[in-house]
Amino acid sequence: MADIQLNNVTKNYGKLEVVHGINLDIEHNEFVVLVGPSGCGKSTTLRMIAGLEEITGGEISIGGRVVNDLAPRKRDISMVFQNYALYPHMTVRENLGFGLKIAKQSKDIIEQRVNEAAAILSIEDLMDRTPAELSGGQRQRVAMGRAIVRHPQVFLFDEPLSNLDAKLRVQMRTEIKRLHQKVKTTIVYVTHDQVEAMTLADRIVVMKDGHIVQVGAPLDVFERPVDTFVASFIGSPPMNLIPGEIALQDGRLHVVFQAENTMPVPRDLADKVVEGQKVIFGFRADDMMPKAHSLPILGEAYDLRLAVDIAEPLGTETLLFSTFSGADIQTKMFNPRRVEPGEVMDFNCALDKTHLFDAQTGKSLRG
Ligand SMILES: Nc1ncnc2c1ncn2[C@@H]1O[C@H](COP(=O)(O)OP(=O)(O)O)[C@@H](O)[C@H]1O
Ligand SMILES: [Mg+2]
Repeated sequence: MADIQLNNVTKNYGKLEVVHGINLDIEHNEFVVLVGPSGCGKSTTLRMIAGLEEITGGEISIGGRVVNDLAPRKRDISMVFQNYALYPHMTVRENLGFGLKIAKQSKDIIEQRVNEAAAILSIEDLMDRTPAELSGGQRQRVAMGRAIVRHPQVFLFDEPLSNLDAKLRVQMRTEIKRLHQKVKTTIVYVTHDQVEAMTLADRIVVMKDGHIVQVGAPLDVFERPVDTFVASFIGSPPMNLIPGEIALQDGRLHVVFQAENTMPVPRDLADKVVEGQKVIFGFRADDMMPKAHSLPILGEAYDLRLAVDIAEPLGTETLLFSTFSGADIQTKMFNPRRVEPGEVMDFNCALDKTHLFDAQTGKSLRG
């Protein structure tokens, strides 16, 4: 049975509807990440699950129980925010135990739960410090500890790492993943950062303008984006998207771009398009690499020449910037070597991994 169910949930602020009838089933112990650009309704959705916002329409249930009218503290959830406020005059130990003390738990239980959380988060050495004596990452760990001690059915996280610097963010990301492996609970996690979503989630839920656009395992969404929005939002660098038109050339359907450039339509998409159709051709940087600098190509390869304007060496890989039929594109190169600005290189395109989207709707033609 799903642990959390959202059935046709809507949210209005006054007359304005900001969440438009979303449906989502979250499994027991699943780590689900809601991801999307700022303002798409992630926090509102999370706060409705928490009970911090009333829902305007639809139904939310947690553990099989409809919670529409249930107070937040009765929902058996713990929430960790971006702006966690620790009590400045209390020690870490007191901060961790405070919620349980208020809930009138016995001293023994409080001590046991606090010690357990401290062990999970490796903060045993910090227990007698006050928040002022902690680094940002340590404070964030204490904030998570306060959620852990309550043994909730569900953890809700709203951009918990946004205030940390880049290095610490990556470190805490791993810790949150480890936390989920140790404390098996359902987690709903909100972020605008697609890398965080990809790395943490069992399933990601991509949102846009108050709608769910796509739900799936990170790699499935990466490999089969349903539309150009998901294609460019998930994955870094963003998928290259180039407008073109379908035409028959030498007995095979091709995408014809500006300036007479063409690319054959991948064989598995040949029956999804018709001559004259306006499309957007998409490919990832990883699927267009210079020869001798590429990964092995599975399926059909297509050769083309490109001039490289700029090369950005990152160590193992180098990002290459070019122009193709009026569009700025990014490709990748392994086995690094120096690339001169303007250098023309022979590329291999992994044609079977490319995408076609309808130019009008932006929807993937893979269906
Ligand atoms: N209290 C509020 N009153 C009015 N509009 C709000 C309120 N909270 C959020 N919104 C609007 O709802 C939409 C979704 O917001 P939010 O859920 O915070 O987005 P996200 O967390 O994805 O950035 C935005 O357009 C935002 O301006
Ligand atoms: Mg938000």
